[in-house]
Amino acid sequence: MVNTGVMLCGVRLDNPIIAASGCFGYGEEFSRLYDLDVLGSFSFKGTTVAPRDGNPAPRIADAPDGMINSVGLQNPGSQAVRDELLPKMAGYFHKPVMANICGSSVGDYAALAEIFGVQEQVGWLEVNISCPNVKCGGMSFGADPAAAAAVTKACREKTDKPIIMKLTPNAGSVTDVAKACEAAGADALSLINTVQAMRIDLRRRAPVLANVKGGLSGPAVLPIALRCVWDVYESVKIPLVGMGGVSTPADVIEMMLAGATAVEVGAANLVDPFACPKIIDGLPAKMEELGINSLSDIVGAAHG
Ligand code: SIN
Repeated sequence: MVNTGVMLCGVRLDNPIIAASGCFGYGEEFSRLYDLDVLGSFSFKGTTVAPRDGNPAPRIADAPDGMINSVGLQNPGSQAVRDELLPKMAGYFHKPVMANICGSSVGDYAALAEIFGVQEQVGWLEVNISCPNVKCGGMSFGADPAAAAAVTKACREKTDKPIIMKLTPNAGSVTDVAKACEAAGADALSLINTVQAMRIDLRRRAPVLANVKGGLSGPAVLPIALRCVWDVYESVKIPLVGMGGVSTPADVIEMMLAGATAVEVGAANLVDPFACPKIIDGLPAKMEELGINSLSDIVGAAHG
């Protein structure tokens, strides 16, 4: 029998599949469809200190083999997540969850790391320095190595839980940002967040999205994500969580061969709410077909 288990920063995952932040809410809706304990884990919606309504509509645009979102970190805020949603989650998810946190200032990130860094249910903090849809913070931290390092250091000082810095492909050099995060104390890196993109409505002769630009995700970005994971794997020693357009067991294996220890699945959940369990079910057969006994053996194997 093949072994799908992997270790991520000292925490065991039964399989490498993590439902990605932003496409899975806090898991409740999906928990009505299937047993979430089949997942390796999930990363909850990017949570900020205070509640946010997000950006004005329209905030979703269609794209070839993907979608563009400009949601703008709509979330109920850290207090509601800690006091209401995490206790509720304990009823439907019995594994460590990944806490995705996002701020407008270094202080925000530190405050969130302090709040979620002591929650028993939280296995890892995924520090989102890559959201392209907010005016302050988000991607502006992830586009600059010094700013990314400052956020990493501030979070590191507040918690002993594993810190995973979530990187943007929109940085001038994703490898420079990755190296800066590693040097500042990150335990792992996740990549990629969405690729900045836009559409134009031909009849209105105006941008489709009220926010003009958004982030592209879905199968269209898989090759970009693979290239980023490949480059970062060659630049740092810490583990990587790969994501971007993954929707099949073959995509998972490709991402792991490029250097990912675990794999997040995002937009696919919006196309088919059963995408994650289907990928998990299909992994063993794909492994057998490719002669893979243990997934942890193939991490970065394409680098030779
Ligand atoms: C959003 O809420 O705008 C998407 C989250 C992200 O891109 O990090």
